Amino acid sequence: MHADSVNFPPELITLLRGTSKLVALTGAGVSQESGLRTFRDAQTGLWAQYKPEELASPEAFARDPKLIWDWYAWRREAVKAVRPNAGHYALVEIEKKIPEFSLITQNVDGLHRMAGNQQVIELHGNIQRVRCADCYTFTETWEDDIESVPRCRKCNGLLRPDVVWFGESLPRDQLEAAVEAARTCDIFFSIGTSGVVQPAASLAFAAHNRGAAVVEINAEPTPLTPKADYVFHGKSGEILPELVKMVWG
Ligand code: OAD
Repeated sequence: MHADSVNFPPELITLLRGTSKLVALTGAGVSQESGLRTFRDAQTGLWAQYKPEELASPEAFARDPKLIWDWYAWRREAVKAVRPNAGHYALVEIEKKIPEFSLITQNVDGLHRMAGNQQVIELHGNIQRVRCADCYTFTETWEDDIESVPRCRKCNGLLRPDVVWFGESLPRDQLEAAVEAARTCDIFFSIGTSGVVQPAASLAFAAHNRGAAVVEINAEPTPLTPKADYVFHGKSGEILPELVKMVWG
């Protein structure tokens, strides 16, 4: 479906013009039109034989640190090669229009900040940041072309990406900010996320349960779809700019 064919209900337009508290939760679908594969899409090349869920865990890193380091190095390069898309830029426009806007992302690619959003809650970390797996010290530079995983200059521990892996806790300050935003917003957008990974997925349900209007934008139905007040199936890079134009254009 092309965004020209999207029919935005007039009451949603009115609601958006009148709101002062809006939350947007984004997932990998928002970056898909920048050329990044979504988390659950099939991988390519060398990595096609692995499921992302099997690589993104502390157990996998303990078993084979080099394999996991190399996977993230490959993904880091993919991120460096892409730019934000129209969906990211529409969210920058929304931030300018809504007094209390919180952008909560599960994406580790940093594209929201690159697009220009000022307030971004990164629930799952950022792939460009690297830290020691043992002492948590961050590092800006490391040797990549070596046989093994680069090590921390301070304690000699293994370096790892500063992202949240399956089974790990989310950064506390980011999670608290996200929960608080979802607890107080009038409107909650869930955009380009399959809504199957907790606790991020529960934020939309919590907002719905206390009466916030929930808007879902996704290429396909998700577990949130039956609860959402407004559902738009299609590409966020088409639907979001069209919505911004309709509401504030
Ligand atoms: P997924 O790969 O699970 O879901 C991507 C969603 O985006 C799917 O529901 C697609 O239908 C939708 N989609 C694809 N292209 C789209 C487009 N152009 N416009 C709109 N929607 C589109 O990714 P996430 O939901 O982000 O966490 O996954 C959540 C978390 O699961 C990830 O952050 C990752 C993983 O565990 C960690 O690595 C900690």
